[in-house]
Amino acid sequence: MRPDQPGAVRPEHPGATSPNDTPTLRRPAVSDAARLWEIARDTDVLDLNSSYSYLLWCRDFAETSVVAEHDGRVGGFVTGFVRPTDPTTVFVWQVAVDDALRGRGVASAMLNFLLDHLAHQGVSTLETTISPDNTGSQALFASVARSRYTSISTRKLFDSNDFPDQHEPEELYVIGDDSNRGEQ
Ligand SMILES: CC(C)(COP(=O)(O)OP(=O)(O)OC[C@H]1O[C@@H](n2cnc3c(N)ncnc32)[C@H](O)[C@@H]1OP(=O)(O)O)[C@@H](O)C(=O)NCCC(=O)NCCS
Repeated sequence: MRPDQPGAVRPEHPGATSPNDTPTLRRPAVSDAARLWEIARDTDVLDLNSSYSYLLWCRDFAETSVVAEHDGRVGGFVTGFVRPTDPTTVFVWQVAVDDALRGRGVASAMLNFLLDHLAHQGVSTLETTISPDNTGSQALFASVARSRYTSISTRKLFDSNDFPDQHEPEELYVIGDDSNRGEQ
């Protein structure tokens, strides 16, 4: 989906000085994958997955992913998938925003865009994992839960020992209905 196509939206944000200063949100195309890889690399905190995985993601999981485009360049992304064992839940794999665009509500706008667009197919819950020291990410997801007037809960998911390499634990965050879902 291109910015001028139906379905692409421009979120309002307080830092915008003109309509063109506001990023456009849309689903990714395969041609965006290299830029997603670069943004993830430049965060210095995200696990940098293979460039191939971002290509596959943009091809096969575009419907559950979002990019933010500013001045003709992608400056942020969310990658996600609907859980095969629970079609009411979207799992957000990575979210990242270029340094230059941070603090303008771009990440929260992308997450809200994702939830709004998946609601019609019955998705009502968002899951993600966050490492205990990533306070920025914790604040982001808490803010999204607040803005949607819904709950956020957390519990252990992956311990350091579960990883074959050196890795922080990853805690599960659930936005929305967390009842009767068991430990799937
Ligand atoms: C985390 C990240 C995606 C936030 O992007 P952003 O576009 O700046 O976030 P937003 O402007 O939408 O902020 C939304 C809320 O989160 C809060 N927030 C965002 N980053 C924060 C930080 N580093 N510290 C504290 N709070 C932060 C904002 O204050 C805002 O809260 P509010 O609504 O109560 O005012 C961005 O900093 C980033 O790319 N970080 C590196 C990658 C990463 O850690 N990704 C998350 C793990 S997958």
